[in-house]
Amino acid sequence: MAAATDREKPIRHALFARVYPRINAFAEAHGALEHRRELLGGTTGRIVEIGAGTGANFPHYPPKVERVIAVEPEPRLRELAKRASAGSPVPVEIRAGRAEALPVPDASADGVVASLVLCTIADVSAALGEAARVLRPGGLLYFYEHIRSTRPGLARRQRIINVVWPLLGGGCNLTRNPEPAITAAGFRIERARHFDFLINGRTTPSSPCVIGVARKAEIAAQENTA
Ligand SMILES: C[S@@+](CC[C@H](N)C(=O)[O-])C[C@H]1O[C@@H](n2cnc3c(N)ncnc32)[C@H](O)[C@@H]1O
Repeated sequence: MAAATDREKPIRHALFARVYPRINAFAEAHGALEHRRELLGGTTGRIVEIGAGTGANFPHYPPKVERVIAVEPEPRLRELAKRASAGSPVPVEIRAGRAEALPVPDASADGVVASLVLCTIADVSAALGEAARVLRPGGLLYFYEHIRSTRPGLARRQRIINVVWPLLGGGCNLTRNPEPAITAAGFRIERARHFDFLINGRTTPSSPCVIGVARKAEIAAQENTA
C-alpha cells in the first residue's frame, strides 16, 4: 500500500478533541446554533463538508440535501461525527482526510461547507483549490468563519493573543481573513454577512465573524465555443 503523503495523514489534537464538544455546546447556546442554521438553510444536492469536527452541522441540513460527505482528519472528532451521523436528517458519510487533499472525485459536489475551519487548516489556498476541484461548475461554497477584526484595537489584541491561541485551540488562528483567499481560489462571493458574535453582550477575540456563499465560476469559455 502506498504511504500516506503529509496532506493525507491524520491530524491528532487529543486535548482539543476532548474539549471541543464543550466549547461548541457553549457557543451554540450563545448563538452559534442560529449561525449554523443560517449557513446551511439554502444547501441542496450533494454536499462535501470539510473538517466536520463532531458533526455539529448535521442536524441542520435541510431535506433538499441528497447526501453529505463529511471529511475529518482528527480520529477522535471523526468518531464523534460518525455517531452524530446516525441521527442526521439526511444521509451522511464520514471519510478520513484533510481539506488539502479531499478524498472526493472532481466536479462531484453541488456544495462545499466550511464552518469554523478555514481558521485552522494549515494550507488554506490548497484547501480552497480542492473545494473548487470537487465542486461542479457553478457549485457553491458555504462558509462560516471567525475572522481578523477590521477594528485596529481588536485586530492588535487578536495578533497578541494569537501567539498562544493555536496551541490551545487545535491550530485555530484569530488573524485570518478568508475572503481574499476564497476569491483567489476562483470563487465569486455572492453573499457575506459580517457581524460580531458577542457572548453575553461582550466582544471576545473570536467575535468578528462572517457567514457567506461563494460561487465557483462556470466554464464560460467552453460553453461559448461549443
Ligand atoms: C474548530 S473545529 C470546527 C469543526 C466543525 N467544522 C464545526 O463547525 O464545529 C476545526 C476542525 O478543523 C479540523 N481540521 C484541522 N485541520 C484540518 C485540515 N487540514 N483539513 C480538514 N480539517 C481540518 C479539525 O480537526 C476540527 O475538526
